[in-house]
Amino acid sequence: MISEKIQKGLTRQLNRESESSQLYLSMASWVERKGYEGISEFLYDHSNEERIHMLKIIRYINKRGGNVILNNISMINVTSLSLKELFTKLFEHEKKISKEINFLVEISLQEKDFFTYHFLQWYIEEQIEEEALSKMILDKIELIGEDKGGLYLLDKDMKNFHKKKNYD
Ligand code: FEO
Repeated sequence: MISEKIQKGLTRQLNRESESSQLYLSMASWVERKGYEGISEFLYDHSNEERIHMLKIIRYINKRGGNVILNNISMINVTSLSLKELFTKLFEHEKKISKEINFLVEISLQEKDFFTYHFLQWYIEEQIEEEALSKMILDKIELIGEDKGGLYLLDKDMKNFHKKKNYD
């Protein structure tokens, strides 16, 4: 059985994962409309991953005898963002999620809930990867600047970015 404090923390986190999924879905849809096929594929895939992050927490709470409360999260308007602003937002969002995971780990130790501490290790690994990947994409976009040929190649490359991530 999980404590009230852990349940509250995990519930907040699963709703953040759901928010991440909606944010990346909104981004994917927007860049697809703008003709970035590879980048949108990457973002659709990323949105699906965030949904899996959310599901893992839901199933963990249920397994430990807690109750899940889902917030109603709608699409987020990102249509005014440039590609650079979009990936800056994504990187900042991932850093925020990492901070929150760290905080959850701290609570699990305070509560001496080593099951939850163990469960959260997967999220730590995931955040290391996600922060590095989003920073790498942002660096590339900064490097390319306004060069249309560079953007074309990046878009082409990004079709395979999610696959690279899985085989690392
Ligand atoms: Fe589930 Fe990208 O954090």
